[in-house]
Amino acid sequence: MPDTRPRRTFAVISHPDAGKSTLTEALALHARVITEAGAVHGKGDRRATVSDWMAMEKARGISITSAALQFVYDGHVINLVDTPGHSDFSEDTYRVLSAVDSAVMLVDAGKGLEPQTLKLFRVCALRGIPVITVINKWDRPGLSPLGLMDDIEKQIKLRPTPLTWPVGEAGDFRGVLDRRTGEFIKYTRTAGGATRAPEVRMDADDVEEADRLPWSEAVDGHELLQLDDYDHDQERFLAGETTPVMFASALQNFGVAQLLDLLLDLAPSPSPTEGIDGSIRKVEDDFSAFVFKVQSGMNSAHRDRLAYARVVSGSFERGMVVTHGTTGRPFATKFAQAMFGREATSVETAEPGDIIGLVNAGSLRVGDTMYVGDPIAYPPVPSFAPEHFKTCSAADISKFKQFRKGIEQLDQEGVVQVLRSDLRGDQSPVLAAVGPLQFEVVEDRMKNEFNSPIRLSSLPYSAARLTDAAGADELRGVRNTEVLQRSDGTYLALFVDKWTAGYVGREHPGVMLEELPAGGS
Ligand code: G4P
Repeated sequence: MPDTRPRRTFAVISHPDAGKSTLTEALALHARVITEAGAVHGKGDRRATVSDWMAMEKARGISITSAALQFVYDGHVINLVDTPGHSDFSEDTYRVLSAVDSAVMLVDAGKGLEPQTLKLFRVCALRGIPVITVINKWDRPGLSPLGLMDDIEKQIKLRPTPLTWPVGEAGDFRGVLDRRTGEFIKYTRTAGGATRAPEVRMDADDVEEADRLPWSEAVDGHELLQLDDYDHDQERFLAGETTPVMFASALQNFGVAQLLDLLLDLAPSPSPTEGIDGSIRKVEDDFSAFVFKVQSGMNSAHRDRLAYARVVSGSFERGMVVTHGTTGRPFATKFAQAMFGREATSVETAEPGDIIGLVNAGSLRVGDTMYVGDPIAYPPVPSFAPEHFKTCSAADISKFKQFRKGIEQLDQEGVVQVLRSDLRGDQSPVLAAVGPLQFEVVEDRMKNEFNSPIRLSSLPYSAARLTDAAGADELRGVRNTEVLQRSDGTYLALFVDKWTAGYVGREHPGVMLEELPAGGS
């Protein structure tokens, strides 16, 4: 029987330290509390949901991989697709956003919008993903709520439409005014914050004496917003013109249930998806899915390759034979799993919006489509502008065969972009990354998995533009510029900085030089 419960598939976008892990754990806790009928979990349990699979990852205490956390809330299935949380963003972070229907932008109340949040927001905007904003850490001193609204409107050009408005300034958090019902959602501090969300709803008349002054200030703020038309409008939200805002303290579990309710209320469910040829696959049509992430080395004992795919249409059943779009060959899905951190469970069925991890998926690549019935191919997952470039060669030349095999596989997995040119030859290709952490992953895996340690040396480039064969010809010999070719055939022109890219573009007006998404800043 297909699971017909509605789905919400989303990711949290934020700058490191804004509280993404804390919020994720609080959401997981909340879901568990609900599904396990009142069980209370201590902080030790909360930590168990944090992913850490690689030795390197453990050493650094960061999460490099992405997977999805699935839970049930109020009759809905929620898929929270995890994004890597380190400041050195890799392409994985961006790719994850192709698998979600909405995003939660988590902002630190003390810091406002920060660089990585803005970058991730740009990817959401590019893909038309609606964004809900959560201002976090309101229990600590921070910026003024109106100042934060200004910041959002100026920096991301979306109209913020607060659904709640804080009662008490940052650091003196009393709760929030629910702008849709006019109620006071009172915040009561509990030790450790590990228990169920400490929220009590009451009518305006029941606000206690001690909270009266901050309450009346919140009412003033709310009325001001109303007059200036900062109210939620569902159509404008879905069109990517506005962002609903709420105030929270993830650490204290305040706002977690409110956020879940908002996701159910406002966030879009999986919708029909257009293939490259313009044909539309409805969610109830035959099964189809696309791969947005491929990962190896999950288990050092046996080096499985796991491909994460988002189900676009139809029901998935473990064991089903699907067609792999790129090769046209059948692919047996004997093993499928849902995975978040170390907690892997076998998946028997999945529905549109769900994320499946396919084991032994040696032939699957990022962007590949799988389907049953009529063929369909979804648009490729976009590649993003690399900003870091290094040449790479085998540290031990007798291991060249292993070197070539490893580089080829990491290229196919999309761990890093591999660029080549006749001039440079095959011995030392150029690796191009969105975040420097990608180089560390390559180094680690080349040494431990492919038995070919590598030597990396930095190149002075920091900007890349798309060009073509004619561009490659014309730019040959131009100073501070080099044109290289990706394995998919695309030409990339590399420049020392974006100003040089602009200058070269003006000097060679006939040459195609296109910006790639989300980079170059
Ligand atoms: P990240 O995944 O976005 O990088 O952030 P993370 O959840 O790790 O949170 C970063 C720091 O901010 C943590 O403190 C966390 O406890 C704190 N934090 C998160 N949400 C809130 C909040 O609502 N209020 C307050 N006051 N703090 C919050 P830390 O000291 O770096 O780590 P820890 O020792 O507490 O784990």
